[in-house]
Amino acid sequence: MSVNGKTVLVTGASRGLGRAVAEAFLRAGARVLALGRDPDAMAATRAALDGIGGAFEMVPMDVRDEEKVTACIADLDRLDVLVNNAGIAAVRPFIETPTQELRDILDVNVIAAFVVMREAVKKMLATGGGHVINIASDAAIRGIGRMAPYVASKHALLGIGRSVSLELRQHGIRVTTFCPGPITTDIMGTGTANPDALPPDELAKMIVHLAGLPPEIDTQELLIQPAPRWR
Ligand SMILES: NC(=O)c1ccc[n+]([C@@H]2O[C@H](COP(=O)([O-])OP(=O)(O)OC[C@H]3O[C@@H](n4cnc5c(N)ncnc54)[C@H](OP(=O)(O)O)[C@@H]3O)[C@@H](O)[C@H]2O)c1
Repeated sequence: MSVNGKTVLVTGASRGLGRAVAEAFLRAGARVLALGRDPDAMAATRAALDGIGGAFEMVPMDVRDEEKVTACIADLDRLDVLVNNAGIAAVRPFIETPTQELRDILDVNVIAAFVVMREAVKKMLATGGGHVINIASDAAIRGIGRMAPYVASKHALLGIGRSVSLELRQHGIRVTTFCPGPITTDIMGTGTANPDALPPDELAKMIVHLAGLPPEIDTQELLIQPAPRWR
């Protein structure tokens, strides 16, 4: 199977892993609808990806805006793959973490991801099935000091994915929870990318490969870590 001609929705595609995923699907011949928020980052991504050719559209969207998200997905003629990627993170000692920071992280990483996924699954059920790839983190299966809200959000996303997968696999919906370790992006702020972390382009190719697997292969959870350097 291939993703050529498939309709793919990528959230948080203005930069980082989401942008790499949108690009990789576009290069593989998919029709890509990319959602983003920051106007400058979106303009840069649009300029870069428009040059590839193919069916690419970038739409401004805060994934916390349930009404807008619902309308956007309802408007699609079909949806084959959702890459539920938009996410935020924060690092802070536990006893200094304001309750609001926990709420903010859960709002994007869990509640918005839940809503996008639910609306996407409705569309997929109406058009013959599909594949949801939730971008969690290795933080979905372990703790990280000074990141309790983020870790809580990724554990929750894994739990949602496991549950929805059980409920909907007999209806042609596959759910993959993708759990990478650190990635070379600016999620912690501009200029913070760790060069020894996982390269977004390689992860994006893995995600395209997963989405192109035949329907009888159900990849439920994938843990990916940077290998230790060999030299
Ligand atoms: N970087 C890592 O080390 C790492 C490791 C494991 C998992 N992950 C996960 O990978 C995913 C992508 O992270 P990344 O490293 O690529 O981070 P990034 O470079 O900071 O990109 C995050 C993306 O999410 C979007 N986003 C955040 N809040 C949003 C909102 N409310 N509405 C719409 N879009 C929103 C951002 O859009 P704007 O910039 O346009 O606002 C941006 O496009 C996240 O789910 C993250 O948790 C990251």
